[in-house]
Amino acid sequence: MPFQFCLNGIVLPFRERLGLNVTIRSVLMQQICETHTMTPAELELRRYAVQGLVAEAGRMALDYFGKQESLGVTMKGAQDWLTVADGAVEDFLRARLAVLFPTDTVIGEEGGGAASDAVWIIDPIDGTSNFARGDRNWCISIGFLRNHVPTIGIVAAPALDELYVAQRGQGATLNGRGIAVSGAEDIKRAYVELGWSTRIPSERYLAILERCHAAGCSVKRSGSGTLGLCHVANGRTDAYAELHINAWDVAAGIVIASEAGASINDFFAGDGIKKGNPILCCTPALAARLREIAGIS
Ligand code: IPD
Ligand code: CA
Repeated sequence: MPFQFCLNGIVLPFRERLGLNVTIRSVLMQQICETHTMTPAELELRRYAVQGLVAEAGRMALDYFGKQESLGVTMKGAQDWLTVADGAVEDFLRARLAVLFPTDTVIGEEGGGAASDAVWIIDPIDGTSNFARGDRNWCISIGFLRNHVPTIGIVAAPALDELYVAQRGQGATLNGRGIAVSGAEDIKRAYVELGWSTRIPSERYLAILERCHAAGCSVKRSGSGTLGLCHVANGRTDAYAELHINAWDVAAGIVIASEAGASINDFFAGDGIKKGNPILCCTPALAARLREIAGIS
């Protein structure tokens, strides 16, 4: 495709659109693409288009989920699960995004990728250990960062029939209805989800668990960091904390939870997009106390 035309952030074949001096036009259009500031309409277009893609990917994943015997479960490491669905869903989303938004970049849990001013961050199946064992608490997660700011978050939990969607400044929804955090203020009534992985020494996790119990919180772990954030967003829990989590686990959930009114640490600070960071997401009134308890600021 020698010449390109940039419309709403979508690059279209140039020659078919314009019959004039192709060289001059192509230089002009290239400059427009390079210096282009994304308009609200272009962001909306991305949200609507990717919402449809995630719903389609959800149906694909649900199909795999229904055939547990052919999931091809392998281990990437201790307690680090992989199924054939992870690769298939990520490949599907990458292929569609490349056609729809060829100038955006993609980072995925399975295939890696590069950050940019317009980057999609994909977790094809979050909660893979649940998925591989027939537990319905898993999801597909895709977040969009515009100029390094978490801007769009879409999470589908097809086995639960739930779709979370949020766009920065526009609120968050679950199956089309607005959601908000619980508003919990009292640590002695707080319901906290504590994420765990083998990436962090067990003593550090256990110390937080102990401090939570000492403060009077009820604690659980459900195996999907992404849904952990979504559950803070809709008030099913009051907080989610984890000492290390990767960008694909939280890129979408951060937008969803913050649009629902949660207080969240600056996860993308430093090299968070590449190496991950700690996360603490909770009701605003619990934030100060939980920062102390979790040691996450
Ligand atoms: C994991 C889950 C888990 C969280 C881990 C993640 P995966 O992702 O989100 O709940 O505690 O940090 O790595 O392996 O299910 O995609
Ligand atoms: Ca994950």
